[in-house]
Amino acid sequence: MADEQLFLRSKVIVEPLVDRFFAWPHTLAPVQAAMNLAFLQVPLLESYLQSPQVHVAASNNPELRGGYFINIPESRADEVRDLLAAIRRDRADMLRFADAIVAGQEILRASSTGFDLSPLYPKLPAELGGLVELAYDTDNQAQLRFMEPIVYKSDAYSEARQSVQLSFETGVERPFILSTPRLTSPDVLELDIPFRHPGLEELFKARVRPTTLRHLREALELNDAQAAQLSGMLSDRPSLAPDRHIEAGGRVRYFGHACLVLQTPEAAIVTDPFISADSTAGDRYTLDDLPDYIDLVLITHGHQDHIVLETLLQLRGRVGTVVVPRSSRGNLCDPSMGLMLRHQGFPVLEVDDFDEVPFPGGKVTATPFLGEHCDLDIRAKSTYWAELAGRKVFIGADSSGIDPSLYRYIKGHLGTADLAFLGMECDGAPLSWLYQALLTIPIPKKMSDSRKLSGSNAEQAAAIMTELGAKEAYIYAMGEEDWLGHVMATTYNEDTYQIKQIDEFLTWCADRDIKAGHLFKQQEWRW
Ligand SMILES: [Fe+2]
Ligand SMILES: [Fe+2]
Repeated sequence: MADEQLFLRSKVIVEPLVDRFFAWPHTLAPVQAAMNLAFLQVPLLESYLQSPQVHVAASNNPELRGGYFINIPESRADEVRDLLAAIRRDRADMLRFADAIVAGQEILRASSTGFDLSPLYPKLPAELGGLVELAYDTDNQAQLRFMEPIVYKSDAYSEARQSVQLSFETGVERPFILSTPRLTSPDVLELDIPFRHPGLEELFKARVRPTTLRHLREALELNDAQAAQLSGMLSDRPSLAPDRHIEAGGRVRYFGHACLVLQTPEAAIVTDPFISADSTAGDRYTLDDLPDYIDLVLITHGHQDHIVLETLLQLRGRVGTVVVPRSSRGNLCDPSMGLMLRHQGFPVLEVDDFDEVPFPGGKVTATPFLGEHCDLDIRAKSTYWAELAGRKVFIGADSSGIDPSLYRYIKGHLGTADLAFLGMECDGAPLSWLYQALLTIPIPKKMSDSRKLSGSNAEQAAAIMTELGAKEAYIYAMGEEDWLGHVMATTYNEDTYQIKQIDEFLTWCADRDIKAGHLFKQQEWRW
């Protein structure tokens, strides 16, 4: 079997982990990861160890879905205790770095009076030395600005934190990624390697091109037991869909949530890749339906449901360029996605509004993204406009219609879209749910609740359509597909505000003869 030509089985999934918590920008980008570790993950592990049964009960309570509860049975509490001890011992540098950030911010808050900031440098905690600049904005408010590329070279960034778990998609919902660390399990192949490890690229390329167990064993540096486990994940038959490429014209396919695959015979683009590996479900497109080569991956923003390393890692080696929105550079709440992905071995291009990215036979233009980030100064967010095979497609992600006149500028610059994909998560989670660990002063609950991660409601989506003048509108990125539960943790029914707002928007479209739909699971447009 060692030299037989084999493919990676369809149902293999990967969970990329940082100190056994799921990898996403707040656990991976070093400044934010240190804050998240110190102020969210360590307290969460402590809380679990105080009363594991409370966490397990809360994890199984539908009303508390998406809350910060660890879904690990009490019988395994010792393993959680070991994890916490290992973090305290091995990540002491990072925990100190997080405390230093808060202390530095406090010094700045207390002592920046509009006068010269240079006397404050010697007062900053030593951990921040060489990694921050102090700067006023033109309103005389002082901030720490992180020199992020340098932080990646410091002790605050350690690839030793990273590992991956390979397993099979079982169809059973996995625990919520923001709250539950992944322990070891006999059905899971543990690889203690960083995400940029070239062996991962070799492994996932075996979805489209066969290779040998011998080659993968060497590439991934496996021992005998690991190689035996990997051999069960390989098959002598490919499972690729025969219609994954097209011969003529253009095609858009909805793969669930915010993931669209746009294709011509010459090129393919994938937006916010988050793709099911469950090829037996039959009600969705899966990794088997992806074209062999993807020219551009477009990432709209840094929320955990849009930059999904679980899928991205499977595509590395098959992607020409990952296009990401440029961050504000050094702002605590706005990690650079470009730096983060470059450090994981991806070819990355950072774009700003109206930057153009050509691909064979077409062009993508980065377009503005408004709101949906709790009024935090986060610039790493972009919508996109793709022109291919004679059609114009607007990819709106979670961008809000809070100031719809913005969309007039998009139309003025680029014309009228044939298809517009719009998100309508109009009652998102409050500020503290996602950003709590990054806030250096406590925020009252009322304030947090007033600043939600909300996209457009019906009125705002209608206003976007009025300004954009698009011919067809499709609501997507609602996280309704059941295979996304470990990331989305949504609970909608027909009475939920969001669903009612979508229905109201669809009625608005019908009244104006605008073709529209609420996407779920899969859909295809062909021309
Ligand atoms: Fe979002
Ligand atoms: Fe989203």
